Amino acid sequence: MSKKPVQKGQEVETTGHSWDGIEEYNNPLPKWWVYIFYACIVWAIGYSIMYPAWPGIKGATAGVLGWSTRENVQIDIDTAAAKLAPINAKLEAAELTAISGDAELNAYAVSAGAAVFKTWCAQCHGSGAAGAVGYPNLLDNDWLWGGDIEAIHTTVSHGIRNEDDDDARYSEMPAFGEMLEPEEIVQVVNFVMTLSGEEANDASMVEAGAVVFEDNCSSCHMEDGTGDREQGAPNLTDAIWLYGGSYEDITETVNYSRYGVMPPWSREASEAGRLTEAQIRAVSVYVHQLGGGE
Ligand code: HEC
Ligand code: HEC
Repeated sequence: MSKKPVQKGQEVETTGHSWDGIEEYNNPLPKWWVYIFYACIVWAIGYSIMYPAWPGIKGATAGVLGWSTRENVQIDIDTAAAKLAPINAKLEAAELTAISGDAELNAYAVSAGAAVFKTWCAQCHGSGAAGAVGYPNLLDNDWLWGGDIEAIHTTVSHGIRNEDDDDARYSEMPAFGEMLEPEEIVQVVNFVMTLSGEEANDASMVEAGAVVFEDNCSSCHMEDGTGDREQGAPNLTDAIWLYGGSYEDITETVNYSRYGVMPPWSREASEAGRLTEAQIRAVSVYVHQLGGGE
């Protein structure tokens, strides 16, 4: 075999470009490649006329066929809704307390409710429903407003302390910083700590604190401190704290009070409501079966 370099320069046309004596060959692209390339350009022009293509400020050009994925999504949503309509109607018609006894309906409500919860409730109550400071844990059996299915359904439908629904659950703890002497606040906070078996910050204050509590707090939190669901007044004896159980946290609560707000969810009850009755029932059943339901 010859090791000599091939002297192509003689056979192939050059472009006439030459740099430092290096010449550029004129090797045209294969015909098949060029024709596919032109075909692609023609196809792209056709495509951008027929289909949405060029981005604008408010959206892309629509294309003469008027094709849109939105319509397809709407068709999918409508198909799914039509498929679920009978079971949703059954869920809306059922007695709330009877749902858990109907295995098929209950299974549907729990799985639909889980989806509603992830979308609408998790941002406040946590994806596992364990809550956070100010947002109650929905897994335990400590309930501010009641943990049977009917109470949960009412809470979810109308919300709490919101201004959008006249039937929202409502109560307001006064800010005692404006009503009691600073000393009385120290006393009652120390007393409240002992209610749940915590050690008081200053044990000498507890006795006087019991009197302050009896006079100012027992109307809502009850004489024994176990709370009142009619008023959403938390049980102070269970060591489960919505706003924290340290001396500082309780002092803050008593001085300034708290005002936890939950929006209303029922579309029927309020313009701000976002969920259908079937969705509210599903999520109520879901919350009820999480572990704390009564
Ligand atoms: C914007 C935040 C927020 C969202 C979203 C929210 N909640 Fe709440 N929720 C709260 C707050 C705050 C409270 C406690 C109010 C109080 O202090 O009484 C509460 C209380 C509750 C209670 C009463 C708990 C008890 O102990 O009685 C239930 C039940 C509940 N939420 C369920 C839901 C469900 C179901 C959803 C979704 C459809 C939801 N929440 C969405 C903020 C929210
Ligand atoms: C008018 C009724 C009412 C009165 C009177 C009242 N409370 Fe409350 N209290 C509530 C309500 C309602 C809440 C829950 C507020 C919320 O969830 O936003 C609450 C919450 C609390 C909490 C927070 C509990 C937690 O889990 O973090 C403490 C502590 C507390 N109250 C102590 C007191 C003390 C001490 C007094 C008397 C000096 C008092 N309250 C008087 C209604 C009342």
